[in-house]
Amino acid sequence: MSLKPLALFVKHDGMSSRASITCQYKCGNACAHDVPNDSPGEYFGDIVRGAVTRRGVLRGGAAAVLAVGAGSVLAACSDGTATAAPGSLDTGSLGSGSASGSAAAGTNFTPVAPNKVDALTVPTGYEQSVVIRWGDPLFADAPAFDFDNQTAASAEKQFGFNNDFAGLLPIEGRPHAYLLVVNHEYSTEPFMFRGYDKENPTAEQVRIGWANHGLSVVEVQGEAGSGRLTPKFGSYNRRITALTEFTVTGPAAGSALLKTSADPTGTLVKGTLNNCSGGLTPWGTVLSGEENFNQYFAGAARVTDPTAAAHLKRYGVEGDASERKWERVDPRFDVVAEPNEVHRFGWVVEVNPWDASSTPVKHTALGRFKHEAATIHVTSDGTVVAYSGDDERFDYMYKFVSSRKMQPGNSQAAMRHNMTLLDAGTLYVAKLTGDAPDAIDGSGALPPSGVFAGKGEWIPLLRTGDDGRGESLVAGMSADEVAVFTRLAGDKVGATKMDRPEDFEPNPKTGKVYVALTNNTKRGEEGKAPADTANPRNNNKNGQVLEIDDQHAGTSFTWNLLLVCGDPATADTYFGGFDKSQVSPISCPDNLAFDPHGNLWISTDGNALKSNDGLFSVVLEGERRGETKQFLTVPIGAETCGPIVDEKRVVVCVQHPGETDGASIESPSSHWPDGGAAQPRPSVVAVWKSGGGRIGL
Ligand code: FEO
Ligand code: CA
Ligand code: CA
Ligand code: CA
Repeated sequence: MSLKPLALFVKHDGMSSRASITCQYKCGNACAHDVPNDSPGEYFGDIVRGAVTRRGVLRGGAAAVLAVGAGSVLAACSDGTATAAPGSLDTGSLGSGSASGSAAAGTNFTPVAPNKVDALTVPTGYEQSVVIRWGDPLFADAPAFDFDNQTAASAEKQFGFNNDFAGLLPIEGRPHAYLLVVNHEYSTEPFMFRGYDKENPTAEQVRIGWANHGLSVVEVQGEAGSGRLTPKFGSYNRRITALTEFTVTGPAAGSALLKTSADPTGTLVKGTLNNCSGGLTPWGTVLSGEENFNQYFAGAARVTDPTAAAHLKRYGVEGDASERKWERVDPRFDVVAEPNEVHRFGWVVEVNPWDASSTPVKHTALGRFKHEAATIHVTSDGTVVAYSGDDERFDYMYKFVSSRKMQPGNSQAAMRHNMTLLDAGTLYVAKLTGDAPDAIDGSGALPPSGVFAGKGEWIPLLRTGDDGRGESLVAGMSADEVAVFTRLAGDKVGATKMDRPEDFEPNPKTGKVYVALTNNTKRGEEGKAPADTANPRNNNKNGQVLEIDDQHAGTSFTWNLLLVCGDPATADTYFGGFDKSQVSPISCPDNLAFDPHGNLWISTDGNALKSNDGLFSVVLEGERRGETKQFLTVPIGAETCGPIVDEKRVVVCVQHPGETDGASIESPSSHWPDGGAAQPRPSVVAVWKSGGGRIGL
């Protein structure tokens, strides 16, 4: 069976399908601004020429397709005024059947076809229900959600806006009961407040925005025979917002760079912002990445000190007023009034969800950048390795290796110890070299070996001792400077500029580590870094997925590209060597998760192939390696987030449904999940197999 090429109606601006209102409120229009990394980088040449793996060398007839060259994608991108009407996408035979023969364990379902429908679409034989929506009460005394009568006091007791990461932690001794921990990345005021005046938001609207950021912890109850989850007013329930007090740990704690008029100690921060993805730790806590924090800060245009201005620029803090004008209600959001407040965001935060009164922590030993997330691998001797990507075009990949060992068990003493694991150890940044750099021409054409592959090294930046004191490993920077201005440290050591490193996740079955590189349409532009082996396409609209075989506690690794995403019918895509006529199209990989069988699951953000975003399974090992199948699609305007793939349940966060250009509260483009004339509401959804069987079997 051959696939009919999916029509590529890619926008003229060369961006993903993300709506401009989402760009504005989610990441402060990062794509419209200049790339913050204008460091020269470095060319390291070909150190391992000819070292190839044979894996994926063109099984199943992919060779003929790949030999076509990159012309078809470029041609497709140069037209494109048409837009598919909702539900009318011509998907040809895409997704209409699974690969011939049996499926790998955990991926035996009929793929969902690409579509533009305003629904969460799951495979035949699967069911779904909304777990919790924006505004749903978390406490018995919380008011019911009332779209037209929101208050900050209500919002502080309700589920926040724009859910991203989700984690489920089983509650011991209570069958089918879990803590559901969810990030609330950002607020989209024009879709939250009728008549919103972006030039003059009210103080109450600002405070409602603060309350809708942060995290929620909520007890949920499952049931035998289905994957349904029902929220409870449990004693663990908690809201963390832009006002919750955090403690700072690690080498920047108490640094002059973190001191403000409200906190002369430099150790206590009010709130967390733009919590995108995250990870569960093996010791039972939750890590959450503070991502596009830059957009909340005003006044950069009025900063006259050249060093401070350069620091702000490298982190994308620009302009005078901020989008949401929070600085008018609290001057800490103005970098002239309070120059160090901005340094108190951009960290990995850790929350102990088992104690609703605990003070969450910002771990400065992991560095400050636009952390997509942080995820943990534990080595056989208990050393903890935390991986984290900096989600910005041409920014870097990092890992932190602890010097302390994890203590097993869930005693309070073990928890206290384990919550210090991320405060002592070494922070590294990644440098990659390709096996055959001369063969990379920016088209996405595979090198002669048939695989994009190479080696890498972890360059140490910052060592933090048991006493919490940092030691800079970067010439010309102090330890607290490396912690606070980590991007500059990466610049100085010639780290590899990547195509927006998003989720970065170790496979619990194999230990291999995977990184979603979402896209980078600036790759190869004049004055910007050209394509390289790990980022092999210029004007990269569809992204790729990197597979790393890491010496977890060591400093070297090998890598290859598992997927070069896009329309499988085009020559510039690669699916682990699997037959490209038998896979689902995938674009803009963002969040990663593993199922109990060791398959990778990928959620997408900004599908540049003009279908709604979705969740995909990818087989990693064996003959079916690279087989990619779409498990679900999310409603119009939404991004798929938070994925959890358990034995009998899949959970996704549907973020920003209805955020499409031209939509408004008066004229919504989505009514999901409530239907009828309802406003769209970001929500968490559980999916399960009818009858309660195992997912994908
Ligand atoms: Fe919030 Fe990196 O996406
Ligand atoms: Ca993300
Ligand atoms: Ca993203
Ligand atoms: Ca993940």
